[in-house]
Amino acid sequence: MTTQYTFEDTEDFARRADAEDPLRAFRESFHFPLAADGSPAVYLAGNSLGLQPRSAARYVQEELEDWARFGVEGHHHARHPWLHYHELLTQQAARLVGAQPVEVVVMNTLTVNLHLMMVSFYRPTRERFKILVEGGAFPSDQYAVASQARFHGYDPREAILELKPREGEQTLRDEDILATLDRHGHEVALVLLGSVNYLTGQAFDLAGITRAAHAKGCRVGFDLAHGAGNLRLRLHDDGPDFAVWCSYKYLNGGPGSLGGVFVHERHARAQGLPRFEGWWGHDKRTRFQMGPRFDGLEGAEGWQLSNPPILQLAALRASFELFDQAGMDALRAKSERLTGYLEFLLDRLPPGFVRITTPRAPKQRGAQLSLRFQGDAQAMLKRLSDAGIICDFRQPDIIRAAPAPLYNSFSDVHRFVRTLAGQARG
Ligand SMILES: Cc1ncc(COP(=O)(O)O)c(C=O)c1O
Repeated sequence: MTTQYTFEDTEDFARRADAEDPLRAFRESFHFPLAADGSPAVYLAGNSLGLQPRSAARYVQEELEDWARFGVEGHHHARHPWLHYHELLTQQAARLVGAQPVEVVVMNTLTVNLHLMMVSFYRPTRERFKILVEGGAFPSDQYAVASQARFHGYDPREAILELKPREGEQTLRDEDILATLDRHGHEVALVLLGSVNYLTGQAFDLAGITRAAHAKGCRVGFDLAHGAGNLRLRLHDDGPDFAVWCSYKYLNGGPGSLGGVFVHERHARAQGLPRFEGWWGHDKRTRFQMGPRFDGLEGAEGWQLSNPPILQLAALRASFELFDQAGMDALRAKSERLTGYLEFLLDRLPPGFVRITTPRAPKQRGAQLSLRFQGDAQAMLKRLSDAGIICDFRQPDIIRAAPAPLYNSFSDVHRFVRTLAGQARG
């Protein structure tokens, strides 16, 4: 199934679509890398590293100034006191992933958070010790689950159960995920899937998977690295036990920026859950009494370990504000149309030149299309870069292109595919 929109393969159509785009003004809120001729590049790599909001420098500068002015007293006297700084991002993070504020916190980085969540939610027993993952999950996730299995004394070759596409297919079928859960759910301690696979761009049915996994008694977590700021997420209603994400991709938080964590409200008091503890997870009212006994905060905040990096949080605030102004519903509506336009244009290139390996149904994907070209993909990436178009490459032969609805335009998409058409003609 393809998209239901009416598109045209002309520059004029792309320009009109941009003029009618209610989110068009947000493009001006970002710095674009420049192409060799000095013009802004066509940036289609927001699924890898999002662009810098123009306001980020001011937000960071404010904290640098307050640090210079107040020193340690900035914890209380900065314009945004550092003691509570991370709370400035909580409501917005909750809106981004469809959660209640008590269910989210911005902290650490993705793989660190994944380990912290597995400490609490991967509790293997002799009868139920497996972790169900996507075959070809992002390597860091593979290392994390394998090392957790080993940490608990299991051989990852026995403990890790991988979902694989059918012979000759690129992506997983919903019915195969559910059938695996039906068959093996009783031995699975944790289901851990991405919300969008980094390589194929396939988006999963979080609600359906959670329901089926819970019915079998498994815990469920999602890696939203490619879902946060991309899909319209409803984590609270979908009901997974936890989720983790990073904020340097669609969320534009900057290189190595902080991650986020969702812990479902049903675990807000962490009853019966072991977890690793640190002073920032301790009750705020008594934290500075420096007592020896940990008294955890309610909700996701209770999983915090350390006082957070304020400069990085400041940069992220700048981006979160733009997301709040745009709203995820409007962003997702534009994204479906923008990626649909990319698909429409790619389908008009000479037969055999490029194959889209991402699912065709909009609800099974986010912004990204994964592309397989005839010939050398890395050479193609270089030629695109020479033409002022930034995508990225992932082994073995995939070029990923992700028009981000916050700053990409229909004209960007048109220019990208027009450049490809020039390559196709040789
Ligand atoms: C799906 C996925 N998981 C994990 C990671 C690793 O993230 P981090 O380096 O922030 O731990 C990435 C990074 O791109 C990713 O895409």
